[in-house]
Amino acid sequence: MTIGDSVAWYEDDKLWEIMEPIMFTEARIAYTTDEVDSIKSLCKIQQDETILDLCCGIGRHSLEFARRGHRVVGVDRTELYLERARRSAEDEKLDIEFVLDDMRTFHRKNSFDVVLSMFTSFSYFEDHEEQILVLRNIYSSLRAGGRFILESMGKEVLARIFLRQSWSEWSHGFMLEEREAIENWSKMHNTWIFIERNGSINKWDVTHWIYSATEIKKMFEDVGFSDVKIYGGLDGREYDNEATRLVVIGTK
Ligand SMILES: C[S@@+](CC[C@H](N)C(=O)[O-])C[C@H]1O[C@@H](n2cnc3c(N)ncnc32)[C@H](O)[C@@H]1O
Repeated sequence: MTIGDSVAWYEDDKLWEIMEPIMFTEARIAYTTDEVDSIKSLCKIQQDETILDLCCGIGRHSLEFARRGHRVVGVDRTELYLERARRSAEDEKLDIEFVLDDMRTFHRKNSFDVVLSMFTSFSYFEDHEEQILVLRNIYSSLRAGGRFILESMGKEVLARIFLRQSWSEWSHGFMLEEREAIENWSKMHNTWIFIERNGSINKWDVTHWIYSATEIKKMFEDVGFSDVKIYGGLDGREYDNEATRLVVIGTK
């Protein structure tokens, strides 16, 4: 068994490689058009507005926004994903700039009208201040009046649906997950074990912050965002006991 935790989990290319078919299923990719409809409506995005897709992965939102005529920049730290994103853009003759960079360093002052952070791409770093640094970069990259939309799993939702253990099957094999709330529910510690059909077994310890709606709202406000709105899903539902996700939108 390989223990893949000699570097921080989020900096391990091998983990992102294994996760590719698990995260980017055909169903999830197909659902992207609905997500973009919802983002456009929640953030009131105008036709001439420019989008930064932060942690863009294989570029599913970047591609969909570009298909709809928006100028898009996608940023991600995983070269494998960016190569796939660039190939897709080329195949469709879409002009998208894909940048290999870290969300802790990437920023372009006053350059975007909307920044996206979709599908739990925030809250990875051990040190809370690094999350704040990411928020500051986003704030700096937005033009006045620009909006940042963060789509993630809220602490309240996670506590409601919490499962200590679960397993799932994907194209290459099985994934076992064990979860534990640590540091007074400020972080989730996950053990991920991947058992592939070819016999290889890999294990990662994945710890990330989990924020309540109130905590994340305050973080947004602390870096300068105003009119911070909270939703329980991209469909704009309330963040109540039936929320499925945590969606936060702040305005510069
Ligand atoms: C859960 S995926 C989401 C991808 C995409 N937003 C989507 O909805 O399909 C998280 C993404 O964050 C990227 N990522 C992880 N750490 C990063 C970092 N420090 N800077 C930039 N991207 C990062 C990963 O490579 C991965 O593509």
